[in-house]
Amino acid sequence: MTSEVPQADRQGEAVDLVVEAGGAHLPRLLEAVEARLREVAAAPGGAVGGWAEGTIAAGGKRLRPLLVLLAAGAVTRGQDALVRAAACVELVHAATLVHDDVLDAAPLRRGRPTVWAAAGREAATVTGDHLFARAFSELAANDDAEQVRVLSRASSALAEGELLQRSDAWDTAVTPERYLRRCELKTARLFEAACVLGELAAAREPGLGPYGRRIGLAFQILDDILDVSGPAERTGKLRGTDLLDGTVTLPLILAGLEDLDLHPGITPAQAERICDRIVATGALERARARALSLVVEAKEMLPGDLTGAQRRALLLVADGVVERYA
Ligand code: IPE
Ligand code: IPE
Ligand code: MG
Ligand code: MG
Repeated sequence: MTSEVPQADRQGEAVDLVVEAGGAHLPRLLEAVEARLREVAAAPGGAVGGWAEGTIAAGGKRLRPLLVLLAAGAVTRGQDALVRAAACVELVHAATLVHDDVLDAAPLRRGRPTVWAAAGREAATVTGDHLFARAFSELAANDDAEQVRVLSRASSALAEGELLQRSDAWDTAVTPERYLRRCELKTARLFEAACVLGELAAAREPGLGPYGRRIGLAFQILDDILDVSGPAERTGKLRGTDLLDGTVTLPLILAGLEDLDLHPGITPAQAERICDRIVATGALERARARALSLVVEAKEMLPGDLTGAQRRALLLVADGVVERYA
């Protein structure tokens, strides 16, 4: 999993390939999404606006807005509505990350201290609330109740998934099925919503939801692999964060460490050692194989009426989900 190519470059190249495949209209739309995100997050200023703006400015892969745009295809009319839909999905994603870092007591994200670590629980709670509120007020401008319902359902599923994760914390007997249910709720539903929103904004018949769900699930499995493999320089997050807050993920489940004592208060050094043990069992490769089979399924579920450019780009996104290193 190592190479001489810097990760940021590799990540950028993968996105460039998708954009190239997806069509000449994409770079301008992605720039418009970026501008919209900055504007919406920062308003109405003040401390909360500043933290929200900082969260957006820290970057991220912008995978969900890219999916919205790709699901829409080459739209010539109504591009403002499409840009808004794409920005909204990223704003909900950003909101959930800020809240997630409170729940997970995570020190680092996107290579920077989290809002929780830098400014505390209250600041992170209100910043996440603000980002959620901004997302929905922005989407309301599209004047389509179904779009609001789709994003709202995904947000509620996400909250349910986060709660399930907390209630299963420290339980090393969690089954793969229960783990996958959690990932479906907290991650896959937003990927599905991104696809459906793109289709709705472009007045297309929804058909990409099943693809979105599967790549979302695979994406979370990879995230959980990266939590074990690290390093922070590559992922922008602290290695072993999941173990430190008792989150039992697929790599740990598949490692079958019979004698493992996972308990509240474990130290970062102990978490690192458990990560090393998980790696030594080959569980990361086994988890990756599960993600890969979901990607294969996702590709098979692409609807038949896509344009060639759309299909090529969505296939590349699916591959990128399991080939990523950050
Ligand atoms: C992190 O998502 C949260 C998960 C669902 C695993 P990303 O890995 O897409 O985060 P950014 O936006 O690129 O930072
Ligand atoms: C995804 O799970 C969190 C959300 C869907 C909000 P993680 O807790 O693993 O995500 P990271 O690793 O903090 O980005
Ligand atoms: Mg987290
Ligand atoms: Mg994670």
